[in-house]
Amino acid sequence: MKYICDICNAFEYNDELGDETTGLKPGTTYDEIPEDWRCPVCNADKSHLAPQDEPREGPAVESKPPDSEGKKSVAWYRDVAREKLMGNCSVNKVCDGDPQRLCMGPKFGETMGLGGEGKGKTFDANYKALDQYRLKMRLVKKHAEPDMKSSFLGVPVEMPVLVPSVSGVKNMNNAVTEEEFQRGLLQGAKLFGTVGMSGQTPSHADRHPGLDSATGGVLIFKPQGQEKLIAEFDEARTAGAIAVGVDLDGCGSTNWAAAGKAVYRKSPEELKELVNATPLPVIFKGIMCLEDAQAVVESGAKAMVISNHGGRVMDYGQGTAEVLPEIASHFKDKIAIVVDGACRTGYDVIKYLALGADFAMMGRPMARMSLAGGPEAVSTYLDFVKSELRRAMLMTGCDNIAQVTKSILINQKL
Ligand SMILES: Cc1cc2nc3c(=O)[nH]c(=O)nc-3n(C[C@H](O)[C@H](O)[C@H](O)COP(=O)(O)O)c2cc1C
Repeated sequence: MKYICDICNAFEYNDELGDETTGLKPGTTYDEIPEDWRCPVCNADKSHLAPQDEPREGPAVESKPPDSEGKKSVAWYRDVAREKLMGNCSVNKVCDGDPQRLCMGPKFGETMGLGGEGKGKTFDANYKALDQYRLKMRLVKKHAEPDMKSSFLGVPVEMPVLVPSVSGVKNMNNAVTEEEFQRGLLQGAKLFGTVGMSGQTPSHADRHPGLDSATGGVLIFKPQGQEKLIAEFDEARTAGAIAVGVDLDGCGSTNWAAAGKAVYRKSPEELKELVNATPLPVIFKGIMCLEDAQAVVESGAKAMVISNHGGRVMDYGQGTAEVLPEIASHFKDKIAIVVDGACRTGYDVIKYLALGADFAMMGRPMARMSLAGGPEAVSTYLDFVKSELRRAMLMTGCDNIAQVTKSILINQKL
């Protein structure tokens, strides 16, 4: 008898063969599987092993053929990512920080995978804060094809979605090298027609892993010492980056702490010093309160990213959609406002724009794509997001990005 785990949809159990990884001997029937057994892919318990009447069709995902037009779909890349991330992320349909998932819960010093810090409450808050909004459907209006185009720091983009800085393939089973992973993010963004960012992991504290693919992209550095950052900004400029930045929330990075690498909070004066140290536009990422937003605007930075690092640097934080409206009400048009956190689809993008952001970004989905298929996969996911954003704009009566305002949102608190 064959079973498939109905949580990850990836683990198949054949009771004739058993499962060596979880210690099930050949011939172990469903009833004989111990109650404390867990799925080796997603950690679900045995109640999620659903009997399969028919064997699954098709070869293993790595050799699964592309569709009839020769193009690999988002679903295809997600299957590949699921295999590559086995034990860390089960590439669930909803990536929301559910506490039952493999990725969530305290790690007690183990690598974090794609999960959140501590109990994962900030990751959860990002999802819930955005999920509370509904969209107002509005259709009786002259038809127009939604114009999604925008421009980020002077660079025209196909839609107001950027690819964020994600790093640390150590958390992703080292399925590709750090440089390849960063290339996927930066070049995938470019291939689609937007701007990508690239993050810095402790194994690359002395040479940013995105340097070789930096042309036209943004390199985000961890908040190390001022002198080091200023030297790194210069390297990024020489490598062709269009902007540089610092993830200020990176001072809470567990990876950097585990690697014994020093990262610091930054004072308002230090922000100004960084902005004045380079001719490139500077971006500060990790803004979650009005006071920090004010300091970033006063520093002369050209963009701020409202972000809590996808809930990976502090437990029990607010969701980004909770703080965005207030920050945007003070600083819209004074600085480019970018936001991320549990943004997964074009519908999430339109909500973030309506709440006051100029650009939205999605971290974990892009990480999975870069891992699964490099630039092509990242670009394919962006195509999918664009088709959803187009539909979301069409159905809410928005002809262009400027028309995406709070008026399309429904929420009791508004
Ligand atoms: C595995 C992983 C690694 C990350 N590494 C970095 C990094 O090196 N630099 C950075 O600025 N942000 C980093 N982030 C945060 C992302 O840029 C982004 O803020 C976050 O993923 C948004 O949340 P989401 O994944 O729910 O979309 C990382 C996020 C994840 C999931």
